Amino acid sequence: MKKILVTGGLGYIGSHTVVELQLAGFEVVIIDNLSNASKDVLQGIERITGILPAFEELDLRDKQATISFFQKYDDISGIIHFAASKAVGESVSNPLLYYENNVSTLITVLQQIQHKKKISFIFSSSCTVYGQAKTMPISENAPIQQAFSPYGNTKQIGEEILLDTAKIASGLHVISLRYFNPIGAHPSTEIGELPDGVPQNLVPFITQTAIGLRKELSVFGNDYPTEDGTCIRDYIHVVDLAKAHVTALKRLLDDTHEASFEVFNIGTGRGSSVLEVIESFERVSKQQLQYEIVARREGDVISAYADTTKANTVLGWKATSTLDEAMLSAWKWEQKIRKPNN
Ligand code: UD1
Repeated sequence: MKKILVTGGLGYIGSHTVVELQLAGFEVVIIDNLSNASKDVLQGIERITGILPAFEELDLRDKQATISFFQKYDDISGIIHFAASKAVGESVSNPLLYYENNVSTLITVLQQIQHKKKISFIFSSSCTVYGQAKTMPISENAPIQQAFSPYGNTKQIGEEILLDTAKIASGLHVISLRYFNPIGAHPSTEIGELPDGVPQNLVPFITQTAIGLRKELSVFGNDYPTEDGTCIRDYIHVVDLAKAHVTALKRLLDDTHEASFEVFNIGTGRGSSVLEVIESFERVSKQQLQYEIVARREGDVISAYADTTKANTVLGWKATSTLDEAMLSAWKWEQKIRKPNN
């Protein structure tokens, strides 16, 4: 059984990926500093898979502790690196926190593994690296554009660090997955997204409004040059996204990759407007959502959806869930976590 380290493994995408790794027969070790995650997630993972993953509470900014961790776990075959901060607005007000959390810690991890004979590494990147792409759908060949935020910049810098390091570290093989917009929760409702405070992302804001935690959703702008005037994104079910990590990891472990650093877009290939997401929610929840149209949000691109040809043909992975399925899972999760005794 191959041992895989998942950093940030108690977070939203991390926990869903741990489940898929365990279901695929991998042994998982999780590192998390619990800054935006709860230890209870471990039990959720256990209830789904029947396996309680190994867990070490560790902050990767603690270099000495990180060195000790890698000495203890010297038999790791692969790393899926989620541990990072991800709030765009916060990254603007506190850039150094983002460069430290997302860039310095990546360097620390790579220093520990760069001399290994063989190590597979999956990096959490983002479609934000493309900025407002000129053509839709966005392929991996679309140019990288100057980041709008320090958060976005940390993803670009992270990819560059990995590309340069994989060139000289002969055992290091990297796949960077550029996620579009992950939404939804595990169909078991054992794990899902737990936003800290007021959600910044669309789908948790919708479900929190419907459950009564927020008065109404603000739709940021309906004067964009799109069919209904609202922005277009590629919303992907988090379980589909989690499975992409397992497929990418196997590609590296099985040596079927073509270069020491590869990039794949991970989305559905389908663009949905904000109003279409609301309609989908209303359809699956059988209720109307309170919303109003307000001004545009600074920094939003008009449209971003993936060309998934490379992921489909080269990686051999395809998203299978519909928007309605993803929205229903998000709604079931919201209802479950707001129940008394939860
Ligand atoms: C954002 C980040 C992206 C990050 C991703 C996941 C920006 C510019 N991008 O993507 O880097 O990887 O989150 O964390 O912040 N919307 C509303 N009302 C709301 C919230 C959102 O109308 O209350 C709209 C937005 O204008 C956008 C769409 O919903 O058109 C999706 O927004 P969001 O969920 O925040 O994701 P992104 O902005 O695409």
